[in-house]
Amino acid sequence: MQTLVNTQSPLNSGSLAGKKILLGISGGIAAYKCAELTRRLIERGAEVQVVMTKAAKEFITPLTMQAVSGRPVSDSLLDPAAEASMGHIELAKWADLVLLAPATADLIARVAAGMGNDLLSTLVLATDAPVAVSPAMNQQMYANIATQENIATLRRRKMMIWGPAAGEQACGDVGMGRMLEPMQLVNLCEEFLGEKDQPLAGKSVVITAGPTREAIDPVRYISNHSSGKMGFAIAEAAQKLGADVTLIAGPVNLATPEGVQRINVTSAESMHEAAMTHASNNQVFIACAAVADYRPEAIADQKIKKTDDNDAMTIRMVKNPDIVASVAGLTKNRPFTVGFAAETQDVEHYARGKLTRKNLDMICANDVSVAGQGFNSDDNSLKVFWPEGEQSLPLTSKQELAIQLMKLIDSQL
Ligand code: PMT
Repeated sequence: MQTLVNTQSPLNSGSLAGKKILLGISGGIAAYKCAELTRRLIERGAEVQVVMTKAAKEFITPLTMQAVSGRPVSDSLLDPAAEASMGHIELAKWADLVLLAPATADLIARVAAGMGNDLLSTLVLATDAPVAVSPAMNQQMYANIATQENIATLRRRKMMIWGPAAGEQACGDVGMGRMLEPMQLVNLCEEFLGEKDQPLAGKSVVITAGPTREAIDPVRYISNHSSGKMGFAIAEAAQKLGADVTLIAGPVNLATPEGVQRINVTSAESMHEAAMTHASNNQVFIACAAVADYRPEAIADQKIKKTDDNDAMTIRMVKNPDIVASVAGLTKNRPFTVGFAAETQDVEHYARGKLTRKNLDMICANDVSVAGQGFNSDDNSLKVFWPEGEQSLPLTSKQELAIQLMKLIDSQL
């Protein structure tokens, strides 16, 4: 059943008008969501060609997918009729985006291994289109080191990893592994393929990122596990969306995003000074840095020596200036001020408390107790609160999350 006749009449308007999406469905329960996903993509003007693995057809029929996509489903590498019309190489070249949803642990492993043992994995090998992978599987399978390493491999190869979300699973387990909802995938397709809009053009944003280091003596310091990835992703996103961006970076090992002005600092006091110099000349201030709340009261001139007569050592600490609260307290040229709240319990309660106490316009609650997100991970999810509203931004890469966050901030300016 393989003639690739275009029976879709693609809409010539819509955010995805004229975009060609090759939707690769593998065999997971979330495959049933693909009918809705396809309809929504087509509504927005996309052309969708569905490719199914053998196992996918156990969960949703090719007939259903043909009906919603308006095109015969491709499912076999060895179908002479299909190869005669649009063979797998043409199909691979046709796509503007290959979206693997749901991507099972098995499909992810086969793609990571570079296998071409069915039509879908062969297409992924043969395409030079960007590939987005939307994992969906049991939470234990997702947590398995093999799956995590395979996903890391795909990410290294510049494939986009969209999801998964956490929640109750079809098997009764609760945890990470649910495929993103169809509309979340549609939004990601729009962000990736849609017309490049620059809603932040003409606006300027200052971002703090990374940890601070509080010196104890010339060789020692107190710090934390922030890698800077979240703050750097926000800087990159803001720049892509058209803003002038100043990034005040603690000591991290990351390249400066293109087009971003970077100011390197080390301690909370130096970050405070840089923030106060720049914040009031800008429309938005985002405090993503993990700033040390306290610093040693005095920095020893020389390396502190271990002594034989004392098993304990006391360092007296004093409070650092609260950078985001200082910016939010500006009375002249105060920017729209966004804080983060890294929490391990009662996340919403503590985040809302900081929103009020620090006089912020918005706060991004980051649950850092969840494995695979928060400090030093590539992915993250946030719950964003502001006085009149709230929005959940589900787990995705920090780059994609940052785009969503910047659009949300823009909607509140
Ligand atoms: O850098 P990554 O590895 O990518 O990790 C990202 C992150 C987990 C660090 C980030 O997403 C995050 O949650 N950042 C805030 C971390 C934090 O210090 O939260 P907090 O709840 O302690 O602080 C609340 C807010 O006050 C934050 O906006 C913080 O920047 C700000 N603050 C805190 C203390 C201080 N002296 N000055 C401040 O401005």
